[in-house]
Amino acid sequence: MKKEIYLFDDIMGLANRLAGDFKQTLAEKAASGESLIVALSGGHTPKAFFDVLAAPPYRDGLPWDKVVFFWGDERCVPPDNDESNFKMTNLSLLSHVNIPEANIRRVLGENPPDEEAVRYAKEIKDNVPAGGSGFPRFDWILLGMGEDGHTASLFPGAPTLKEKKRICVVATHPQTGQKRVSITFPVIDNADRVSFLVAGSDKEPVLNEILNRGSEPLPYPASMVHPTDGVLEWYVDKAAAPWL
Ligand code: 6PG
Repeated sequence: MKKEIYLFDDIMGLANRLAGDFKQTLAEKAASGESLIVALSGGHTPKAFFDVLAAPPYRDGLPWDKVVFFWGDERCVPPDNDESNFKMTNLSLLSHVNIPEANIRRVLGENPPDEEAVRYAKEIKDNVPAGGSGFPRFDWILLGMGEDGHTASLFPGAPTLKEKKRICVVATHPQTGQKRVSITFPVIDNADRVSFLVAGSDKEPVLNEILNRGSEPLPYPASMVHPTDGVLEWYVDKAAAPWL
């Protein structure tokens, strides 16, 4: 597993670099006539990145018909709910760029969670080519990290951390009880590229343990991501990693 850490002064530095990397990766895929299949993260951190992509030169300068967006996780709420990861992404990015409707493959958060986890797993299986392990192989999975070290909606100590068969599971937010639909570690670890976006001093304690740890296993789901033969990247800002 190749691991890279990129340090930025702030979230805008991170967002601009990521937008540049996105453009380059998309160009490479489009040049080979393929689409770039990406699983987006939720939460607040990716918003700056979306805002950059929604503005020139990226807004009108990218082959958006060659991008397919899925989500790594979603809150089980309707798409017009402020808690919806889709809503945030739609307002910040999707409604500003010329991406075909069919390329926006959102989790239907309005559906009953158990049904939706099964339905979304099938949509991923039918539309994301399988990799060596037989699991879908995303070109790129963007992940965030919570203060508790959770990622996607894989929370510390949850039984979903041990999932070995399913593509999607239903998760429960430990504090709010909110239901979520989340991809699982077998899918995350099968990706060609996994990039964590981590910004802000509230993330520093756990990020410090993860990036400066010895060989001992940690209880943080974000520390359990090990792409089988893909790249693992950490896009972090100085507030989250002052010791770098
Ligand atoms: C979600 C996410 C979650 C998020 C982290 C970090 O739906 O909440 O996918 O895993 O990435 O909680 O969230 P922030 O970026 O808001 O700190």
